Amino acid sequence: MKLDVLLGLQWGDEGKGKIVDVLAPGYDVVARFQGGPNAGHTLEFDGIKHVLHQIPSGIFRAKTKNVIGNGVVLDPIVFKSEIEKLQKYNLDVKSNLYISKKATLIIPTHRLLDQAQEKAKGVNKIGSTLKGIGPSYQDKIGRQGLRVGDVLAENFKMKLHKLVDLHLEILKHHDIVFNWTELESQFLEAVAFLKQFKLIDSEYFLNHELKAGASILAEGAQGSLLDIDFGSYPFVTSSNTVTAGACTGLGVAPCHIGEVFGIFKAYSTRVGSGPFPTELLNEEGEAMRKEGKEFGSTTGRPRRCGWIDLPSLKYSIMINGVTQLLMMKADVLSIFPAIKICTQYKLSNGTVTDQVPYEQINENITPIYVEVKGWSCSLKGLVEAELPKELQNYVEFLERSLEVPISLISTGPDRSETIHRLKQPA
Ligand code: GDP
Ligand code: IMO
Ligand code: MG
Repeated sequence: MKLDVLLGLQWGDEGKGKIVDVLAPGYDVVARFQGGPNAGHTLEFDGIKHVLHQIPSGIFRAKTKNVIGNGVVLDPIVFKSEIEKLQKYNLDVKSNLYISKKATLIIPTHRLLDQAQEKAKGVNKIGSTLKGIGPSYQDKIGRQGLRVGDVLAENFKMKLHKLVDLHLEILKHHDIVFNWTELESQFLEAVAFLKQFKLIDSEYFLNHELKAGASILAEGAQGSLLDIDFGSYPFVTSSNTVTAGACTGLGVAPCHIGEVFGIFKAYSTRVGSGPFPTELLNEEGEAMRKEGKEFGSTTGRPRRCGWIDLPSLKYSIMINGVTQLLMMKADVLSIFPAIKICTQYKLSNGTVTDQVPYEQINENITPIYVEVKGWSCSLKGLVEAELPKELQNYVEFLERSLEVPISLISTGPDRSETIHRLKQPA
């Protein structure tokens, strides 16, 4: 009777989709608890790459129930297109997918408002995915949003029009071009599609599962450094991406939380605006982007790349109560003869710290690095005992600094390219 949580410790895109898919056979249920179509979770197996946005990454495992929790913002149009893409794989999605009636709906005007808000910010734009995330969470918190359960009400259209009218009033003041009639018919078609699925009271469902002895894996989206409270505000997303978000986003009490899997890349990436102390604005950064194929799974934007940042990882580990670390994309660092690890920050007043300062945007943070020898060899097909000594040293250095064991090393995008570590420090 437990709920394990898997979440990103950096700025998203750590490889959550791959690992949820790898771990899913060990769980009865996989549940998304926050975010929405801003997420792009990639899974690879049998030579095929799948990118999921709102559907939990346990969907390819026949015995796994998948839940879209109340904390998610769900776009029915994106949902329909995701389901249609899955149709050719003969999955029993209609039986294996459950959607919380309390999840918030993203309506087309949320996307338009997202565009308008970003445009109005000019050079200070967040770099949002433009999927309507901020505006839909604003309506949720503002107590005027629509929820999935509302689609079942007879007066749904009336409720929709009431909200749309409010949005259109705001949009009048922005030069965003759109055709509401077209958007509305596309939306209503997608809503009709959504109604064929299991729309449930997911908090009861999940707690009944737990009581019956089931195990649940909560799948985080985005990353801890994009959390609305703890990320580099305002360059964040609009939800709580941290462990506590799994409780509010699923309706499961904290006492049920078991393992917290903190997933991170062996280096760092960020997409969108905001502080990034170890960013490499040089040919090393470009080489990392090329080798790691660091282009957004949702927007296709190039991801900013840099060395691993231990102060920010320590911060994420603290906020989340991480019990196991999972290190992704070790293979990408094979191209570097020497690898840098940021262990501390030097602030503009000369202070040296391993804490993330409150002021990150106007503060001139200089990373202090330790340089270690790279492994400079392919990791393809290697098992744990065959990993090069330099990589083992890198892993042990991180474990000593972060004080949490690294229980998994990923050496490629495919399901199979995953090393579950047997030997962990005492
Ligand atoms: P998520 O949002 O956390 O699920 O991560 P994304 O799917 O957005 O981005 C991770 C990218 O890295 C995807 O393209 C994955 O296929 C890929 N990937 C995952 N693990 C590894 C790995 O160990 N090595 C390499 N080279 N690619 C990986
Ligand atoms: P996954 O789940 C990486 C970033 C955006 C932007 C900021 C706010 O695939 O790891 P939003 O659209 O949420 O209002 O954008 O957050 N962002 C992500 N970056 N991975 C994601 O999800 C992200 N979801 C949002 O680029 O900087
Ligand atoms: Mg992603």
